Amino acid sequence: MEELIIRGGRRLRGELQVQGAKNSVLPILAATLLANGVVTLRNCPRLRDVETSVKILRALGCTASWDGDALTVDTSAFRDCAISDALTREMRSSVIFLGAILARCGQAACSMPGGCQLGPRPIDLHLSGLRAMGAEICERGETLRCDGCRLRGTDITLSTPSVGATENLMLAACGADGVSVISNAAREPEIVDLAQFLNACGGDVRGAGSSTVTVAGRRETHGCAYRVMPDRIAAATYLCAAASAGGDIYLRGARARDLGAVLAALRESGCDAAPDSDGIALRTPPRLKAIGPVRTAPYPGFPTDAQSVLMAALLKADGATVFEENLFESRYRHVGELRRMGADIRVFGRVAVVNGVTDLRGASVECTDLRGGAALCVAALAADGETHVSALRHLDRGYEDIRRDLSRLGADIVRVTDCESV
Ligand code: UD1
Repeated sequence: MEELIIRGGRRLRGELQVQGAKNSVLPILAATLLANGVVTLRNCPRLRDVETSVKILRALGCTASWDGDALTVDTSAFRDCAISDALTREMRSSVIFLGAILARCGQAACSMPGGCQLGPRPIDLHLSGLRAMGAEICERGETLRCDGCRLRGTDITLSTPSVGATENLMLAACGADGVSVISNAAREPEIVDLAQFLNACGGDVRGAGSSTVTVAGRRETHGCAYRVMPDRIAAATYLCAAASAGGDIYLRGARARDLGAVLAALRESGCDAAPDSDGIALRTPPRLKAIGPVRTAPYPGFPTDAQSVLMAALLKADGATVFEENLFESRYRHVGELRRMGADIRVFGRVAVVNGVTDLRGASVECTDLRGGAALCVAALAADGETHVSALRHLDRGYEDIRRDLSRLGADIVRVTDCESV
């Protein structure tokens, strides 16, 4: 069994380069199926969900190879249009391949991605949008079979601005005859990154970043070289880590325009956040103060993915902070683990109230999910004594190397396997 051992109490100092965005590169990897040529993705993060996407591409007949942080994908030998049950289960967002495979070959099959640690995660909007484009979808038990033959462009209005559904429908629309208009589309920066990638390959996607995305299908496409955007949630994690431990850090590559709600919260807590054209500097006060209610919402609201790490940063703040989680049902699973470290948090349905305490203590805790696990690391940096963080498979899905990054900033953190340092 592997664990991180973190000894709290050290201020963070120094500079860190932010990894490429997980939530951007996953749909872009699916989108490589639509490029008629070789694609090279730079700033591609090396993490488990990316490896799973690469496995899916290889299982479909494509080739992929790494050179440093560049991943080159050649989809010319694509031959299969079904994703195995095992790969669908490994990563929920494998469902994003559905739209791309349908656009490429007119049919697709995969397993139904079940609920996961965050509560039920339906894909009804993905499926109804694909059906509106003319796909025939048969849901039999745990299996989904889609027959698109010829998808046709159409107008689709999402009842909620789902990130995954917007991406899936953008991909399918690229292979449809005519123009598709997606209304109430998600506006997340990762949607903009996907659109820019598709356009770099010769696609015609307009309006990404607004609530209306228009896609003209069946364009002549080609390969391209593309740089993946920086990961705003990894950036938020390290900003919150510094806010928790205290410190003075510079995150190279972090884009303030993607992090407006997070920076506003950190500033309200007393941090000095100074963005420039290359990154963001953060300096913290001796003690953070509690802030007004943090309500998660679709972009540009406060990101649900940063809720847990901000909560962890505010555990020792002066006063009480109220959180309201509005995206996912079970997104407070880290709370029980934080309590083991001495946190004072009460949960009432979708609301959590954090009363700042003066001390946290090291404890043995377990990652409950990806961002919940990051929150445990953030809290451990401000705790007295040693914290042992286990179930690292969750962290490995989304962070290239959280141990490396935090230790670059001066944290006392090691990763051990059966008590041996690795
Ligand atoms: C993506 C991100 C995830 C982030 C989330 C919200 C990736 C790989 N993951 O997940 O990190 O937390 O956006 O910012 O990019 N919904 C439906 N029906 C659907 C689809 C979604 O009801 O068909 C609901 C969900 O239950 C949820 C809300 O819409 O309440 C938002 O989910 P969505 O934006 O789709 O999240 P994901 O794309 O799964």
